[in-house]
Amino acid sequence: MPRLPLEDNIADVIGKAQRGLKINNEELAARAEVSRADLAAVKAGEPIDAVIRRIARHLHLNPTALVELAHDRWYPEQPELARGFAMFNTPFGDMTVNSYLVWDTRSKTAAAFDTGANSDGMIDVARAEGVRVLYLFLTHTHDDHVADIPKFARATGAEVWASEREPSDFPGARTFHENAHFHVGDLAIKTLSTWGHSPGQTTYYITGLARPLAVVGDSLFASSMGGSAEHYADQYRNDVEKILTLPRDTALACGHGPLTSVAQEKLHNPFFAR
Ligand SMILES: [Fe+2]
Repeated sequence: MPRLPLEDNIADVIGKAQRGLKINNEELAARAEVSRADLAAVKAGEPIDAVIRRIARHLHLNPTALVELAHDRWYPEQPELARGFAMFNTPFGDMTVNSYLVWDTRSKTAAAFDTGANSDGMIDVARAEGVRVLYLFLTHTHDDHVADIPKFARATGAEVWASEREPSDFPGARTFHENAHFHVGDLAIKTLSTWGHSPGQTTYYITGLARPLAVVGDSLFASSMGGSAEHYADQYRNDVEKILTLPRDTALACGHGPLTSVAQEKLHNPFFAR
């Protein structure tokens, strides 16, 4: 797969923090003691480090990580998961969305996470690997993530599962509570409620592959997090408490953009680096 760009640029990150903290441009410029013109220039992509550092401090973002993002200096090292993991990236309107297939090579059983815009690639890999897909788990029910449920469910016979706080309207879909456990052969899957971006946003923590894996949906992105004007603090807290407390080598499979890891986000994500 060609290198996926980071989901968010500096303007996106600053904008998410501003909307979440309810600080408009005028207030931000005043508090950070920068000119409105310099703030606009930074948001347009001009990497003026001194201005970026001041803005970062007033949005509770990590100044060094935000400067790195402005200069496009960092890209996550892609975690190796060996066999039993595949990532799919499909176009939806003017964006692209990720979906994932995870399988146990011994029992030849699998779980899918979201369908993306089109699940043909996932169906093909499941067939090529000769695995039976037991579950289709939804991270959340925004259109781009669930656009192809009927075809995927028909082709694989997978059960569709989502959070009780954000049920799928797909006929026969089931719901789970937080901290539910599922098994796919030798793989164990636990549901973590990392809501904020949407009411039932779920992270699936999977053990039994070469390293721990968390499918985080739009809870967190490499160098950013899921947007939420109303539930910014909740999304932030859930990410800190439930994702960034996972083992440091946990691979993070995000709803948009490249793979990353807990250790890398703790160092390079402007929202979370300390
Ligand atoms: Fe999304």
